[in-house]
Amino acid sequence: MKVLVIGSDGQLGLELQKVSNSYDSLSWIFSTIKTLDLLKLYTISSFLNDINPSVIINCAAYTSVDKAETESKLANSINYKAVDIISKWTSENKKKLIHISTDYVFDGLSDILLNENSHTNPINEYGSSKLKGEIVCLKNDPNSIVIRTSWLYSSFGKNFVKTMINLMKKNNSVKVVNDQIGSPTYAFDLAKVILKIIMNSKNKSGLFHYSNEGEISWFEFARSIRELYNLDCKIIGVSSKEFTTLAKRPKYSLLNKSKIKTTFNLEIPNYKKSLKNCIEIIKNEA
Ligand SMILES: NC(=O)c1ccc[n+]([C@@H]2O[C@H](COP(=O)([O-])OP(=O)(O)OC[C@H]3O[C@@H](n4cnc5c(N)ncnc54)[C@H](OP(=O)(O)O)[C@@H]3O)[C@@H](O)[C@H]2O)c1
Repeated sequence: MKVLVIGSDGQLGLELQKVSNSYDSLSWIFSTIKTLDLLKLYTISSFLNDINPSVIINCAAYTSVDKAETESKLANSINYKAVDIISKWTSENKKKLIHISTDYVFDGLSDILLNENSHTNPINEYGSSKLKGEIVCLKNDPNSIVIRTSWLYSSFGKNFVKTMINLMKKNNSVKVVNDQIGSPTYAFDLAKVILKIIMNSKNKSGLFHYSNEGEISWFEFARSIRELYNLDCKIIGVSSKEFTTLAKRPKYSLLNKSKIKTTFNLEIPNYKKSLKNCIEIIKNEA
């Protein structure tokens, strides 16, 4: 089975490259922006025809949440229009598409665990472009799988965990938002789940939620990072109002993972256990 990973040098893409080493029976192709630039929409179908993969994992995305407020056209091209073309191709060619989406499709006004049927209402351009992408994906290709995830981090790339470690090493105190609630996702855990899904997904399709277990604020996340890295820095909790960003963020985006757990028989690690594993890797690389 030939598996194509699009966006393979992002956080999730690099974790998939790591996990792929344990799946020698699959034939892997990892594309980056150099081999497939999703902004060149007219090249996508012929690229896919040439490779002719059985499975596509689309990890590519425009992920700069704040910049998307002023670059919504770019965000829409990558997060929506490219997904439109990819999902038409997988549908027409009867191939499997696994596409990744985000908790930012929600407005965060509810404080009830969010399931796959919960009302979506993005409050920023990034979330809006990602919602259009997941809708078009499932409409064009009802056999596809869309996984919404939240607060993704990894030992690769740029993310909250690595930013916090750097800030806490250099400063006596850092300010972190304490009124946005969700759950982090270690990209390595998600990569392993995606592989499990590929191996068991013949008749499975639709929308699924995945993050690590736990319900925390960014403030509590920062405290866990400090504890596990053994850093000495004061963490000051601030409200979203005090910590303004160009794009609004949902206040509550805790994903209900029951559907993915029962469908694919998964046990999901608690966020702190996974964070410990990731921090060990970051420490060893420092
Ligand atoms: N990060 C989060 O907190 C988070 C939370 C929820 C959901 N998600 C979703 O999870 C998925 C993976 O996210 P991630 O954190 O791994 O993202 P990431 O690290 O930002 O990686 C995104 C990848 O997309 C590639 N890309 C950007 N523009 C492209 C283009 N025009 N053509 C081809 N590739 C392009 C990037 O390439 P370059 O590096 O060369 O630009 C990069 O390799 C995305 O769908 C994202 O929306 C992320």
